[in-house]
Amino acid sequence: MKRRKILVTSALPYANGDIHLGHMLEAIQTDIWVRLQKLRGHDCVYVCADDAHGTAIMLSAEQLGISSEQLIDAASIEHQRDYADFLIQFDNYHSTHSEENRELSESIYEKLNANCHIHRRKIKQLYDPEKNLFLADRYIVGTCPKCKTENQYGDNCEACGSTYSPTELTDSRSVISGATPVEKESEHFFFALPAFTDMLKIWTRSGTLHDAVANKLSEWLDDELQEWDISRDAPYFGFEIPGEPDKYFYVWVDAPIGYMASFKVLCDRSDYHFDDYWCPGHDTELYHFIGKDIINFHTLFWPAMLTSAGYRTPTAVFVHGFLTVDGTKMSKSRGTFINARTYLEHLNPEYLRYYLAAKLSSGIDDLDLNLDDFVQRVNSDLVGKVVNIASRCAGFIAKGFDGMLSKRLDDEKLIAEMLASKTEITELFERREYSKAIRLIMEQADKANQYINAKQPWIIAKADKHSRELQEICSTGLNTFRLLISYLKPVLPVMVEKAEHFLAIDPLQWDDIEKPLLNHKINKFTPLLTRVEIDKVQAMVDATRQEYETQQGNSAAKPAANSSGLEPEIELDDFAKIDLRVARIIDAEIVEGADKLLKLSLDLGLDPQGEALTRTVFSGIKSAYEPETLVGMYTVVVANLKPRKMKFGLSEGMILAAGPGGKDIWLLEPHSGAEAGMRIT
Ligand code: MSP
Ligand code: ZN
Repeated sequence: MKRRKILVTSALPYANGDIHLGHMLEAIQTDIWVRLQKLRGHDCVYVCADDAHGTAIMLSAEQLGISSEQLIDAASIEHQRDYADFLIQFDNYHSTHSEENRELSESIYEKLNANCHIHRRKIKQLYDPEKNLFLADRYIVGTCPKCKTENQYGDNCEACGSTYSPTELTDSRSVISGATPVEKESEHFFFALPAFTDMLKIWTRSGTLHDAVANKLSEWLDDELQEWDISRDAPYFGFEIPGEPDKYFYVWVDAPIGYMASFKVLCDRSDYHFDDYWCPGHDTELYHFIGKDIINFHTLFWPAMLTSAGYRTPTAVFVHGFLTVDGTKMSKSRGTFINARTYLEHLNPEYLRYYLAAKLSSGIDDLDLNLDDFVQRVNSDLVGKVVNIASRCAGFIAKGFDGMLSKRLDDEKLIAEMLASKTEITELFERREYSKAIRLIMEQADKANQYINAKQPWIIAKADKHSRELQEICSTGLNTFRLLISYLKPVLPVMVEKAEHFLAIDPLQWDDIEKPLLNHKINKFTPLLTRVEIDKVQAMVDATRQEYETQQGNSAAKPAANSSGLEPEIELDDFAKIDLRVARIIDAEIVEGADKLLKLSLDLGLDPQGEALTRTVFSGIKSAYEPETLVGMYTVVVANLKPRKMKFGLSEGMILAAGPGGKDIWLLEPHSGAEAGMRIT
């Protein structure tokens, strides 16, 4: 076999956000592929980094009152911990804010410039005269010039769908300071993308991209390509353009170069040679795994830049769709915008690795994490089918044969058949058709279970627990198990490691399962994977929702950095549906295990039948109130909010409060003549 030399990347996550399950989909897809190549004995390296530059990061840091460097350092630690805990095995994880990346970015820019692929011209842009900052479209809001809807972003209207330039908005203002933007001119640097049209037309159709992606790109390539604006004016968190004071590289220039920089760091501490992987004419492969939202950066700008700078282009760019949860876009308020850490606090990472593998394909369709299906699928496949085989056979081998497997198999044909599917499984993993690979593996697991059902070892054991037949049947069963875990190893590294220990074998490689495991002593069976509990899934969703609510509370009084800060408009009818009542707090208590919550009992007066109307509400106000001080106080409650099951009990409403959070959360407090149950109109 020829040992392939492969370099693989996942897209670099932005440093100003937590790693969430969408990022994890990409990392898991990549990691499975990389693990497969490594198991097959190929020389495969996987690098990634944090994407640390740009206006958004600069503004986030400012809001938190820390430096950009402090923000990205903290993020890097958290991100790496999240990935590691999901068993993502990087060979190196770096940052785009690094000396290696600065050097590479400068040298690539200089080559582009020397080739006359950098053009300068003056452009006019909106400018925030208070913050002294040029404003990207998403930092400007105003009234749509077409339909007059207020609070629309600088580039398009969510109400009528029209697109425009931010200067066409009326009453425009800066999202950052609220100031009215002014037009200001400055010189920008452009990359001559149109010069690469022919090269890109060929490259995108040369097996580098899935057809669906290449077709999408044709839409751009058949039109005229535009020059790409690669500079930003100070203040900007990034790299200064060499010899051009106060001009910075746009974050998307040095972001993909970050792949090179991360690999360079690996080279510096190993035997890998940078040029083997990045200069033309070497027998190495380069793959980028990315999401469908960043296709143009990776399949137009990036290959063109590499070409101009004299580097090789990627062997292929693998594009995946977006993760949805329960059929819709991940949503913070619904509790489905799930952070990696929140997941890990409740569930085993291998559940998600398996579930995503069972649904991933090579295409760009979105992938749904259906939470009920998730529980059902993991339990029935992994626990019910795979682990079950081992647990059904292990006991008999332990009790009757002191852990020794038989000298021959009871059913050689079964093992041969299961082994024969290996070529196809390998092929499917290689082509990133994971769902098909998993289906084929589970078909083999079904066969193995049918075999055990048919042989009924428990009946034989009743008659003679030392019978040779029993030993051979259970040994055949355990050999099917060994094949299955070998196939699943790229997906479930930890479970398989435990299984290897149970079977008392060396770490499995992809190619060492041809010979069956016979006349071999195994260890005592211990549970390899426990069932997913639906309660834990619910607790994860509740925790996600609560993180969001707390965050909302904390940011209520702050100007939002990246939006108008307003929820979408509602109709008067919508508002009329909210039943606001005066409530008297009759009891308030601390909730065991919840940092932020108080449990409130509310008196809402009498219902029309004259019965006392009470509500229990969990509210995130513990940081601001001692429970005793609340008792007897009047406040306002949303009385007709659908009750919600939380980790700590049922919450039957919501009380109204405002403030930046911490000690400052002010309850809405009706005073003169307030009476429990009064309707607020
Ligand atoms: N920093 C850029 C990438 C630079 S690569 C040189 C970026 N960062 S990101 O944090 O927004 O996204 C990182 C990756 O995660 C992207 O490939 C993106 O498509 C992917 N995903 C982000 N949300 C996702 C889902 N909900 N589902 C699947 N992938 C998603 O873009
Ligand atoms: Zn409009």
